[in-house]
Amino acid sequence: MNFTLKHTDPGSKARAGLLKTAHGTIETPIFMPVGTVASVKGVHQRELRDEIDPDIILGNTYHLYLRPGTEILKSAGGLHKFMGWDRPILTDSGGYQVYSLSGRRKIKEEGVKFKSHIDGSLHEFTPESVVDLQREIGADIIMAFDECTPYPCEYDYARRSMHLTHRWLDRCIKHFEESEPLYGYQQLFFPIVQGSVYTDLRKQSAEYIAGTDAVGNAIGGLSVGEPAEEMYEMAEAVCDILPTGKPRYLMGVGTPINILENIALGVDMFDCVMPTRNARNGMLFTSEGTINIKNKKWEDDFSPLDPMGHTFVDQEYSKAYLRHLFAANEYLGKQIATIHNLGFYLWLVRESRRRILDGSFRPWKDQMVKQMDKRL
Ligand code: GUN
Repeated sequence: MNFTLKHTDPGSKARAGLLKTAHGTIETPIFMPVGTVASVKGVHQRELRDEIDPDIILGNTYHLYLRPGTEILKSAGGLHKFMGWDRPILTDSGGYQVYSLSGRRKIKEEGVKFKSHIDGSLHEFTPESVVDLQREIGADIIMAFDECTPYPCEYDYARRSMHLTHRWLDRCIKHFEESEPLYGYQQLFFPIVQGSVYTDLRKQSAEYIAGTDAVGNAIGGLSVGEPAEEMYEMAEAVCDILPTGKPRYLMGVGTPINILENIALGVDMFDCVMPTRNARNGMLFTSEGTINIKNKKWEDDFSPLDPMGHTFVDQEYSKAYLRHLFAANEYLGKQIATIHNLGFYLWLVRESRRRILDGSFRPWKDQMVKQMDKRL
């Protein structure tokens, strides 16, 4: 068994667990910083490891396949060696990235034909090829090839798409079982629940995914524009069906509030570009609410970036200094903001874990959700 459930919170469905992978054990709940193209944008691997200290990061099959290409990654001995990161990595399958290419892709039973966002060249992903690519990349956790439906999405389309995702899943599993890891360590395969915002489809999909008896399970197709309440409803319906003894990964979610609410529903793993992307636009997440550091009100505020923050940038730099760096369009501004935001997200999930273990998660979560729902 790769996953051990350590504790379930008495006041909610939140869980604390341990997920064993080839490159180390992951303490859950966890947030995985996104390193789409073998780089967590703006952060050195050493800073990431020593300052932010995530147990696992995420890469994207779609991007790595297009550039540098899996031949280069194979020559390097896999993604870990190529990018100098020896902790766990999860790769997304490309299902979501291909969905984002609307207008540049064609979905068929066999797979998806798409045009590269880089040079317009034509490519095809199939469930089998995506397993092969993720074998070549060498991530510790690899994802099924799925179709992420848009929001809003008509019931009939969502139903047909869900069945296609299930058929693709069967092909992924068959191919995964018939293929071998390339670098001598085990890779874990996670299937993905779909079904848009329709409870009956979500339940049906969760039953199907639970039936595959995978090491861990993912929930896709959320955080695509639906109201937060609908996201929580779907996550809850799915978590109540997925096996308790396996980790649950909610893909592409979300704001700090979304993360706490979904932890309370029984989700164990998260990833999102929000802390890194929003940092580059000057948005800082803190336990007191969000800050737009470009705002004139910070011009002469020499107080620490985040007095409660846990990374060195929070204490060493002032709001006025960071605002100046953004005004002057300095690279350093984006780097500092990124370290702050990732540090905050990782603190949030670690503190959640600590509170689940000591039984104080629920009241703390309710208080944090209120506190963070502010613009400072
Ligand atoms: N990332 C965010 N949502 C999704 C999804 O539905 N599918 C995949 N593969 N990745 C995602």
